[in-house]
Amino acid sequence: MTFAALARRTLPFVAALVVLTLVWPRLADAQARTNPDGWQIPASAAAEANPVALTEAALARGKSIYQGKCQRCHGPGGKGDGPEADPEHKPDDLTDPARAARNPDGVMFYKVWNGRKKPKMPAYSLELSREEAWTVVHYVKTLRKP
Ligand code: HEC
Repeated sequence: MTFAALARRTLPFVAALVVLTLVWPRLADAQARTNPDGWQIPASAAAEANPVALTEAALARGKSIYQGKCQRCHGPGGKGDGPEADPEHKPDDLTDPARAARNPDGVMFYKVWNGRKKPKMPAYSLELSREEAWTVVHYVKTLRKP
C-alpha cells in the first residue's frame, strides 16, 4: 500500500481522534474559560422547569433553607444587606423586579448550584440536594417586589 492510500484510510480515524481528544473537552469547557470568575450556567438552563411543585409547604421549606444558608449575605428580605455581605461587592438585590426576566427558575437554580468566584457566592451543590436548591428558588422569587 502506498503512503497516500494508507493516509486516506486512516484519516477519518485520526480526525475522529482529534475531535474527541482536543475539540470536545474544549467545547465543554468553553463557557467556563470565557467566564472563569462568573456564573456557570448551561445554555439550556432557561428552559428548565422547576420540578418542585409550588405549594405553601415548599415555600415554608424554601424560607428555612434561605434563612439557614443565604440570609447571612443576602439579608432577611433579600436586599443584599446580610452581616456577611462583602461591602465592596454587595450581593445583587433579590427584590428588584427588573431582575426577573434575567433569572428564570433554571438560571437561578444554577446560580445557587454552581456559585461564582468573584464576587464570591458559594456553590451549594455539596450542601443542598437538587430538590432543596429548586425549593429555595421558589422562595427567593417571593422576595421580589411586584
Ligand atoms: C457569601 C455570601 C453569599 C451567600 C451565602 C449566598 N449568596 Fe447569593 N449572591 C452573592 C453575591 C456576592 C451575589 C452577586 C454576584 C453578582 O454581583 O453577580 C449573589 C447573587 C445571587 C443571585 C443572583 C441574583 C441576580 O439577579 O443575578 C441569586 C439568585 C442568589 N445569589 C441566591 C442565593 C441563594 C438562594 C443562596 C442560599 C442558598 C445564596 N444566594 C447564598 C453572595 C452570597
